[in-house]
Amino acid sequence: GSGGGGDRSSALAGPLVLENSVQKIDVNPPKGTRDFPPEEMRLRNWLFHNFREVSRLTGFEEVDYPVLESEALFIRKAGEEIRDQLYCFEDRGNRRVALRPELTPSLARLVIQKGKSLSLPLKWFAIGQCWRYERMTRGRRREHYQWNMDIIGVPEVTAEAELISSIVTFFKKIGISASDVGFKVNSRKVLQEILRSYSISENLFAKVCVIIDKIEKIPIDEIKKELKSVGMPQEAVNELLEVLSVKSLSELEEILGGAGEAIAELKQLFSLAEKFGYSEWIQFDASVVRGLAYYTGIVFEGFDRAGKLRAICGGGRYDRLLSTFGGDDLPACGFGFGDAVIIELLKEKGILPELVPQIENIVCALDHDLQGAAATVATMLREKGQSVDLVLESKPLKWVFKRAARINAQRLILVGNTEWKKGMVSVKILSSGEQSEIKLDELE
Ligand code: HAM
Repeated sequence: GSGGGGDRSSALAGPLVLENSVQKIDVNPPKGTRDFPPEEMRLRNWLFHNFREVSRLTGFEEVDYPVLESEALFIRKAGEEIRDQLYCFEDRGNRRVALRPELTPSLARLVIQKGKSLSLPLKWFAIGQCWRYERMTRGRRREHYQWNMDIIGVPEVTAEAELISSIVTFFKKIGISASDVGFKVNSRKVLQEILRSYSISENLFAKVCVIIDKIEKIPIDEIKKELKSVGMPQEAVNELLEVLSVKSLSELEEILGGAGEAIAELKQLFSLAEKFGYSEWIQFDASVVRGLAYYTGIVFEGFDRAGKLRAICGGGRYDRLLSTFGGDDLPACGFGFGDAVIIELLKEKGILPELVPQIENIVCALDHDLQGAAATVATMLREKGQSVDLVLESKPLKWVFKRAARINAQRLILVGNTEWKKGMVSVKILSSGEQSEIKLDELE
C-alpha cells in the first residue's frame, strides 16, 4: 500500500508524512466482544424473541436498567470471581462506575427505590448486556446478554418451581429436550445447617458458599485450606465435603436428619416439578452452590447432559440481598440465562435455526424517469403494512432478480412506462413465477 510510509519517504519528508499517514485500525472488536452483522443479529433476535415469548406466557413484565451503574452496587466482600472481573473506572465527574456484570443488583436497587409503591409479588424479566473481564473459554466471553426472570415477594418454593418451569418451556420451544439438558438443584440451607451445627458464625456463610463453588476448578486441598483459613474447624470442613458428594435426597436426609428446612423445601420442589410436568428434567445435586454471594436457599443450574459445555443458566433464592443495600429484605428468587452456551448447544445438536432475511416486496422502476412512480408504489404498500425493498438506482433486471433472491422477496413489482400510464404495475410472484398486471389501488 501507499499509506504505510516506508523508510525512504519518512526520511525524506520527516514528521509531515507521519501526520498525513493513516494508521489502519484493528477491524476486530475488542477481545471478547462481538459485532452483530445481519446474520448474527437474526440469530440474536430469534433467541430474544423466544425469551420474550416465554416470559409473556408466564405473565412476567419486561424491565431494564442502565448498563453503567455505580461501582458500589457490585462490591461484595465474599471473594467472588465476579468482583475481580469488573469493568470499572472513574467517570469525568470522578464517580466510580462499572459496566454491569449482572442484572440482579440493579433490580434490587430499583425495588428499594420504588419501595411501597410496588404491589407484590413482582414478576419481572429483562434481557441485557453484561460485562465481565473473563478468561475466555467456549461459551464465555467478556460481554454477553442475559435473560433474567425474577420473582420478588414470594417466600415459597412455588416461585423457584415456576422459574424452572419457564426455562423448561423455553428449552422445549427451541427444540431441546430432557435428554439434552437437565437441572441440578440444591439448597444452600444444607450448608447453613451444617455451619449452624458447628456454631459457625452466619457471617461466614456467603464466603463458604463462594469457596465451595470453586470445587471443580481448583484442587480439593486448596478448597480445604481456604475453608480453614476463613475459620472453619477441620471437622466441619470434613462434614461439609462429605455432604457435597451426596447425590440423592434420601441420602442427605440420613446425614442431616429429616427435620430441616433444606430437605423440606427440596422435597416440595420435586413434588411441584411433578405437577408442572418437568420431573425428568431435574435432579438433586449437593455439589451445586453457584458462585454468587447473595443466594440463601434453593440454587439451580441448567447443564448439558453430554457434559461438553459450561452451565447454560443458573439462579436461586436471594432473600437477604436488599438489606445489604440498606433496604428492607423481601423474599426473592430468579435466574440468569446467557446467550452464549445455548447457541453452542444448538450447534452441537445441529439444530441452529436457518434464518434468512425476508421481505414481502421488491419494487423497481424500469426507467430512470419512473423512480418517483416506484416511490409512490412503495409508500402505498408500506402504508398497508407491507415491507418493501425499493431499488434506489437504475439497475439491469438481472441485478434486480439476483437481489430479490438474496433478500427472499415474495413479489417483484416492476414499474414500467406502458402499465404506469394505465395506472398499473407488473407483479411477479417469485415462488411460482406467475406474473400479472395489477391496478395500483388493487395492490395489497
Ligand atoms: P450467573 O450464574 O453469574 O448468575 O450467570 C448466569 C448465566 O449467565 C450463566 O449461567 C451463563 O449462562 C451466563 N453467563 C455468565 N457469565 C457469562 C460470560 N462471561 N459469558 C457468557 N455467558 C455468561 C447471575 O448473573 C445472576 N445475577 C442470575 C440471577 C438472576 N440470579 C437471580 N436472579
